[in-house]
Amino acid sequence: MKGIILAGGAGSRLYPLTRVASKQLQPVYDKPMVYYPLTTLIENGVRELCLISTPQDIPRFQQLLGDGRRMGLEIDYREQAKPEGIAQAFLIAESFIGKDPVTLILGDNLFSGGDTIQKAFDEFTTGAAIFGYHVHDPERYGIVEIGLDGKAISIEEKPKKPKSDYAVPGLYIYDNQVVGITKALQPSPRGELEITDVNQAYLTQGQLKVYKFGRGFAWLDAGTSSSLSDSSAYVRTIEQRQGIKIGCPEEAAFKRRFIDVHQLEELVREMPRCEYSEYLSGVVQEARGK
Ligand code: G1P
Repeated sequence: MKGIILAGGAGSRLYPLTRVASKQLQPVYDKPMVYYPLTTLIENGVRELCLISTPQDIPRFQQLLGDGRRMGLEIDYREQAKPEGIAQAFLIAESFIGKDPVTLILGDNLFSGGDTIQKAFDEFTTGAAIFGYHVHDPERYGIVEIGLDGKAISIEEKPKKPKSDYAVPGLYIYDNQVVGITKALQPSPRGELEITDVNQAYLTQGQLKVYKFGRGFAWLDAGTSSSLSDSSAYVRTIEQRQGIKIGCPEEAAFKRRFIDVHQLEELVREMPRCEYSEYLSGVVQEARGK
């Protein structure tokens, strides 16, 4: 399974924060925003990644993550010159995807808790898998109507009269048909290749599976000043209470055995002394049974 992190856009809703650093590099409590979706992919076993961003911002992501090898990853970078929709990612990354299935995650989405995502990845064979998350403001999102049997009945992008309160978060799993499906799409009235139209195509073929996130699961998108601040407060609350980090890619890579304890220790050694490196030292010590 290949993985795409879409981290483009002008970040205009976060201006002036985004004058010099892209949205997905802004801090969410104690780490850059992109660490959270990156960690979600690593936790689910994805190690071949493509990060899509603007030509101006790609060098900064490269500075942060490099080629990923230090974390046992392979990270490719591709440019999205103009933000022309989430589904455009499959055209930009076509040669990266090759003949494989692919998961796409939005660079400003933060997922935390439960095992629903893992279940979706474990069960995935063909077609498409998306998620449903109960929200109080469904007109802001892609909305999926879910039948009693758990199957999707309809899917609509930002409907004025939503048929359900289940928003579709920015994490999608597709088989290799997704590239062909995207090529056949027409841009929407807002001039974008809509991810909802991709999902609609799978729904029409009877190949769209929906997983509902349960109560207590956290899905936050950190794209506005207030949701960015909410996300920071959420991460801080959980991390301080539990002493366990959310969105720590080095730890996730170690837990997934992408790197061994020596490689993790080496990463820690290269970091300055700080709360983050002390936390990872704790992970090393625990692994060594100290
Ligand atoms: C996009 C998608 C929408 C999805 C949302 C999740 O919305 O179009 O279907 O529910 O991401 O964050 P946009 O970022 O265009 O508001």
